[in-house]
Amino acid sequence: MDKEKLLYDSIRPVSWCDDGLRLLDQRKLPKEEVYLYITSTQELYTAIKEMAVRGAPAIGIAAAYGAALAAKEAEADATVNFKEGFHQRLDLLASSRPTAINLFNALDTAKRLKNPSDNVLNWAHQWLKDDIDANKEIGLYGAGCLAPKTRVLTHCNAGALATGGYGTALGVIRAGYQQGVVETIYADETRPWNQGSRLTLWELQKDEIPVTLIADSVAASLMQKGAIDWVIVGADSICMNGDIANKIGTYSLAVLAKYHGVKVMVAAPITTIDLKAESGADIKIEQRSSNEILPNEYNNGFVNALNPVFDVTPAELISVIVTEKGVIESSDARKMQTLISKQY
Ligand code: MRU
Repeated sequence: MDKEKLLYDSIRPVSWCDDGLRLLDQRKLPKEEVYLYITSTQELYTAIKEMAVRGAPAIGIAAAYGAALAAKEAEADATVNFKEGFHQRLDLLASSRPTAINLFNALDTAKRLKNPSDNVLNWAHQWLKDDIDANKEIGLYGAGCLAPKTRVLTHCNAGALATGGYGTALGVIRAGYQQGVVETIYADETRPWNQGSRLTLWELQKDEIPVTLIADSVAASLMQKGAIDWVIVGADSICMNGDIANKIGTYSLAVLAKYHGVKVMVAAPITTIDLKAESGADIKIEQRSSNEILPNEYNNGFVNALNPVFDVTPAELISVIVTEKGVIESSDARKMQTLISKQY
């Protein structure tokens, strides 16, 4: 199937409008569909940190547009020269969240632009377009791995909301559903932020794609009953040996999948690959505030809470990594290197 024929592509969480960035505020979904209008790098830093925009590719796209805001601010900043002012602002954006590699790949690319004042906005538009195109390629490659009547479980939200549009894991699921090979879609809640129950459900029901919600702890028994064929997830970082980081709980699902003979697909664009990370040991895992999970009643100094929001899944637990450049089975350092060097 040609990617132009793909349906279910109506959601655009990040866009540029009247010299500012329009972000669908994901903290408010599914109750309210409201948009933030961002006109400064400081506002964008807060929006990323506080997860108004989230999902590694969407964060990268927001940062690319942030570079356009940074260039404008740096031009008006009389205290430093343009390059210094531009880089200071990009570094501020880079400090918003530590695990989403697309953020750093976008900002590093912005730093290498020849004339940022002149062309950064066009470059950001292209970054967004490339992401949507990549997701559709990923969708087709990933759906091609699925047998008829596949039952999938997805974790977190690696959908249109987490990208420029269409999604990575949900891109595969959308394409597979359109092609008639995906029979059942389970989405887990994804405690504690509930990306699954709030966001994945919101976007699939918007596209009228049937989905069944489960509590996170139900996955094991569903696998035990033989009710799941594939776990399909996205990634925040892919290392050069094929280890990946994704939303906390991905590792548990991959271990469960191994035990039950269920396959695991990681779907992500090339912009999620961290060329500097040899293995999962090099990934910086974001720790968020204990207040996000600790009930107010226990805010008394006696009770603590640990809130790491990503975990590392080793390559040996992943059946396939799907990117816009194709599918790698049982990834390792050699296959990753070949993928990186592959020309379109
Ligand atoms: O904390 P979040 O919601 O930003 O985490 C997002 C994820 O873990 C996604 O699975 C990942 O970024 C891939 S999104 C295509």
